[in-house]
Amino acid sequence: MSPLAVIVLAAGQGTRMKSSTPKVLHRLGGLPLIHHVLESSRALEPDHLHVVVRHDRDTVTASVLEVAPHAVMIDQDDVPGTGRAVEQAVQALPGDFEGDVVVVSADVPFVDHGTLQKLLEQHRSAGAEVTLLSAILQDPRGYGRVIRNGDETVARIVEHKDATEAELAVGEINSGTYVFTVASLRKHLPFVTTSNSQNEKYLTDVVGLSTTNGGTVAALAVDEPWRVEGINDRVQLSVAARRLNDRIVRHWQLEGVTIDDPQTTWIDRDVSLARDVEILPGTQLKGATVVETGAVVGPDTTLVDTEVGERAVVKRTDATLAVIGADASVGPFAYLRPGTILGAGGKIGTYVETKNATIGEGSKVPHLSYVGDTEVGVGANIGAGTITANYDGVNKHRTVVGSHVRTGSHNVFVAPVRIGDGAYTGAGTVVRKDVPAGSLAINVAPQRTMSGWVEAKRPGTEAAKAAAAAEALEAARAIETSQSTSETNHDWAPVSTERRTAEAPGPESE
Ligand code: UD1
Ligand code: CA
Repeated sequence: MSPLAVIVLAAGQGTRMKSSTPKVLHRLGGLPLIHHVLESSRALEPDHLHVVVRHDRDTVTASVLEVAPHAVMIDQDDVPGTGRAVEQAVQALPGDFEGDVVVVSADVPFVDHGTLQKLLEQHRSAGAEVTLLSAILQDPRGYGRVIRNGDETVARIVEHKDATEAELAVGEINSGTYVFTVASLRKHLPFVTTSNSQNEKYLTDVVGLSTTNGGTVAALAVDEPWRVEGINDRVQLSVAARRLNDRIVRHWQLEGVTIDDPQTTWIDRDVSLARDVEILPGTQLKGATVVETGAVVGPDTTLVDTEVGERAVVKRTDATLAVIGADASVGPFAYLRPGTILGAGGKIGTYVETKNATIGEGSKVPHLSYVGDTEVGVGANIGAGTITANYDGVNKHRTVVGSHVRTGSHNVFVAPVRIGDGAYTGAGTVVRKDVPAGSLAINVAPQRTMSGWVEAKRPGTEAAKAAAAAEALEAARAIETSQSTSETNHDWAPVSTERRTAEAPGPESE
């Protein structure tokens, strides 16, 4: 088989995006546009993969090399146009390279490997100089049109901006995806000029030069026209994103995932879902998120690069780089930041924020807490309203909580601090010192109650009035009780005291 080179065009500015981000790095299904194209290009296993860059070349190069480390980056010079881009990429091929060159545009993301393979096979079997991928579009605006001869053979391509009225009426468009023999590119590109409405060196002019010099140009029309839609502005980007999402949602539904509301469920391309997962409305699953069988995610949940274990329930939650164990429960209204690892059967409850925290099997942080830079053993319960004070203003410190610990409500763990296995802390404790295993830690700050303070210091307020009314009611009840007691002369009070003593022995009697 003859050698193969793939050239990816990514040097354009993407003016119509009106963005400081290069067009080819705008995301679709969680991946930069250019990654979609690199994936189908690499699947052809070419001998050479050249990517042409210019605008924001460093950022684009870094993104390309993430997924295609062996790509050769070509810097396009100041001559604008797809023709110049390909010319420079061809010049960078080895001088003795003889074979086929597939050219793809980084802004045409849905041309898949199968389509490229078919295009290449057709090109080779027809012995063509050029084979281009075309499509019949309902709305061909903006695209180059495929102009055919009377005998239906391809004559040339005319850009939308250079086309006559009659040419604009043609519905067959050039997708920007082609196979050329390297010989045809070497022969014709030097003759392509910039004399057109955009003052660019058009790659598309190679088609006309080839046919007028007796070469064969073939066109393969795609069966699914949406596959060749280019992305030039943000309207097209959102249309493409919706289309891709619809396909991804449908794919997972057919794989056994219940998706209640496809319209409000967004699933990135690299997400993986097991059978019998249930996704509730308003859910976004991003990056490399994985959800295991039987888990229920949503409503109104965003998971980025997060793993959800079997049968876990994740409700109204925002999580990034988190691992949620099997049978665990998260939310509603939980915020899991990177490095959160929740063990099997564990719980991160309502209004809880976690970061860099390992919470062991069956351990629970049920309400209103911040847990950061923390390790919690198994079977522990962290009281409502607990804060790990992990930051001293300069450095972050760790909190280590043992297994089967019970911490009281509204604690502050001033890190670094350790709470041993099976320890307890009282409500409102500020834990500044380590608590050994099995101990109870409390801060001794006796409550001082100043009776009558409100009426004395805040006279005439609603609070003072309420206090006075409560006192009056209490006094009236006291009189009533003393009267009824003296009338019937009950003798239950001393008995009751005895019984209570017997039922609730003091610690010293154990
Ligand atoms: C191009 C085609 C048009 C086709 C359409 C399909 C040309 C002249 N026109 O038009 O026939 O219907 O694609 O989507 O080829 N690029 C460079 N260097 C440059 C200019 C562009 O590398 O100097 C890259 C861009 O980054 C982009 C691709 O080439 O990835 C296409 O460029 P763009 O300006 O979007 O071309 P279109 O006007 O869409
Ligand atoms: Ca384009």
